[in-house]
Amino acid sequence: MLQAEARIPRADMIRCALCADAPCSAACGKLNPADFLRSVWFRNEQDAALRLPRENPCLTCSAPCERACVRPGEVPIHDLINRLYYQVKPECETPRPENEDRLRCDLCGIPLENPFLLSSSVVASTYDMCARTFEAGWAGACFKTICTLDIHEASPRFSAIAGDNGGIMGFKNIEQLSDHSVAENMEIFRRLKEKYPTKFILASIMGQNEEEWGQLARMCQENGADAVELNFSCPNMAEGGLGSDIGQVPELVERFTAAAKRACTIPVLTKLTPNVAAMSPAAEAARRGGADGIAAINTIKSVVGVNPHTYVSEPAVHGHSAVGGYSGNAVKPIALRFIAELGQNPELSGMHISAMGGIENWLDALEFILLGGGSIQVTTAVMQYGYRIIDDLKAGLNLYLTEKGFANVREAVGLGLDALSSTTDTLERDTVIFPRFDRDRCMGCGRCMISCADGGHQAITLDQNRHPVLNGKKCVGCHLCLLVCPQRAITRGSKRISHTK
Ligand SMILES: Cc1cc2nc3c(=O)[nH]c(=O)nc-3n(C[C@H](O)[C@H](O)[C@H](O)COP(=O)(O)O)c2cc1C
Repeated sequence: MLQAEARIPRADMIRCALCADAPCSAACGKLNPADFLRSVWFRNEQDAALRLPRENPCLTCSAPCERACVRPGEVPIHDLINRLYYQVKPECETPRPENEDRLRCDLCGIPLENPFLLSSSVVASTYDMCARTFEAGWAGACFKTICTLDIHEASPRFSAIAGDNGGIMGFKNIEQLSDHSVAENMEIFRRLKEKYPTKFILASIMGQNEEEWGQLARMCQENGADAVELNFSCPNMAEGGLGSDIGQVPELVERFTAAAKRACTIPVLTKLTPNVAAMSPAAEAARRGGADGIAAINTIKSVVGVNPHTYVSEPAVHGHSAVGGYSGNAVKPIALRFIAELGQNPELSGMHISAMGGIENWLDALEFILLGGGSIQVTTAVMQYGYRIIDDLKAGLNLYLTEKGFANVREAVGLGLDALSSTTDTLERDTVIFPRFDRDRCMGCGRCMISCADGGHQAITLDQNRHPVLNGKKCVGCHLCLLVCPQRAITRGSKRISHTK
């Protein structure tokens, strides 16, 4: 079994609240069940199985963990641990790696102990937060964007679209930049660098003119930053000509990048906006301005939740709202598309790509790495789950790299680029891959039949046992049925080569 293939669907533990100081673990005394559940949640079940003690303590136990749960009896903790023992562990062929050496990489030539950094936002906005990040095992942090503007935030400033389990799928914010003075933030850098010399401090800055971009870059270098990230992409800036406005104008990107480069000798990354049709013009302008790397994506301009009674969208601030930035797992496909565009652009070859947008687990991170990301940044998942997600990010990626025989992360960077085309007209169109129905798993809901009838090609009927029957003459192999099946009882089946138009 490969680390990427889940045996325990997240849906099976959907009632788990991923508690702080989890009562299940406190009640157990033999295992730390919360740690194992979290690994399952974050697609790291194989590493979890390899961490289990030899003897299964659940065999002789009356499950006080399930009774102590904040939702007593609603999370099948024993069953989940047993499945790790008897379903997942026997299929683990690769032993847990003994160290994290494979995760070592670099950001523009400066060593990173692993590819994971916090991205610039509230999650990295004080000394204490960054210190806790570093202690938790993150390789570095991109500090909340520093500026000379007087920042005064609105309340509330966040809104979200929830998934089935109540968790956040997509997240909207109308937050601006750091509300500390430049001097306060410089002191934080000095203290962080002194205490954590090997951790990477990426200083996000936003100037209002060339002189200020230069001044801020220079000050960050003088106070211990390892590199600067130019924020050309915040969608929430009140003043015209700042944030994502800059990222939409390649001439400004080039001019302000050059200003920062002239003022410092540490690497300069430009953080670009996804609020464009293509990112390459701004990225190429950044390179002309001397940038060493690109960071992307920032948040996507969005409107969330228009209230049917007040007619105001969210977050509603005193009866009014504003377009704001969207992030979180929902934006990952859009972010991947931009990272691939950068990774495939020969004009940008050799530039570091610091990738982000919706990363929650190691598999998300790997997707960005395969499309050219040399380092990984995260905000929304940390806001939702906390710094502790680093454990499963590192362990999951480390085990995958070991299993695949990669010597280090860098060997995986960009491996997915050749198989991705920016348009669909290059694809082979003569093969139809039929769905295969697993009758044992099928519960006879008929969802495949409904979707095929109303959103497909009327190729599925139900037999007297409510099992799907495929009409191969009508099926075009679109795989809508696979995607809607709530039981995951439909997989890729046999092929037909079609020569008819
Ligand atoms: C609340 C919040 C505040 C943010 N503040 C900043 C910021 O000050 N500077 C910046 O460059 N990006 C900022 N971002 C964008 C994130 O750094 C990141 O680019 C984006 O959220 C996508 O990553 P994610 O899906 O992991 O959150 C912010 C994002 C959020 C959610």
